[in-house]
Amino acid sequence: MIHIFKSIDELANSLSVKVISLARESFRACSPFNIALSGGSTPGVLFENIASAIEDPGLWEEVNFFWVDERCVPPDHPESNFRMTDKSFFRPLSVSNTNIYRMMGEEEPHAEANRYEALLRSQLPAREGLPCFNLVLLGMGTDGHTASIFPDQMDLLHSGRICEVARHPETGQSRITLTGPVINNADMVCFMITGANKADVLASILDGEKGSEKFPAAHVNPQYGELEWYLDEKAAQFLKASGR
Ligand code: 6PG
Repeated sequence: MIHIFKSIDELANSLSVKVISLARESFRACSPFNIALSGGSTPGVLFENIASAIEDPGLWEEVNFFWVDERCVPPDHPESNFRMTDKSFFRPLSVSNTNIYRMMGEEEPHAEANRYEALLRSQLPAREGLPCFNLVLLGMGTDGHTASIFPDQMDLLHSGRICEVARHPETGQSRITLTGPVINNADMVCFMITGANKADVLASILDGEKGSEKFPAAHVNPQYGELEWYLDEKAAQFLKASGR
């Protein structure tokens, strides 16, 4: 399903309503809600929006926060995805540390990928032998990367592992990332994509153009769940598709 909004704020308003309602359902059912968060500027706007919309911070008691990917930097580093989420979401809502399972960017990358993989296997329900998230929030880069799966590391889409070490193609920065199979094992995957600089790649993917398979984001298609695209008008400006 494709949702198009005039602005990033309208997009964030709509998606935060969805995330809050999913969290509320889990709260009422006293069942855990396991969500995997991405980094980047677009998710940051969503987290600030959710934090400003919430009346009952206790809502998050049944929500467990995991990450889709993390830069291999300390948690207080300006590029840390955890730091961004902590500032924009966890601290304003006083989310308990017991609900937060961060990827430890300060650790040796391969050891941390192994640790986080074992954590996911112990904390999440499994489907087809893989951990199953209730919701995975993804962004997309201008090169069509998603999570930290970049176009020059497409093997991560079909890895036999749950977590792997990736490398940013320009900066060489090591990253910990979920792999394609666990992302596609989720009950729901929501992309948040804004900005004219992503419009070409996004149209190629959503209109199924020849050559779009070179973009990692084109390979996100949860086999048991829903795929939602939350877009602003700038990012959606070249779309022919009415839905997906
Ligand atoms: C990261 C993200 C990455 C991000 C995209 C989009 O750690 O950088 O997980 O996949 O979501 O690069 O980022 P923007 O929303 O800032 O464009």
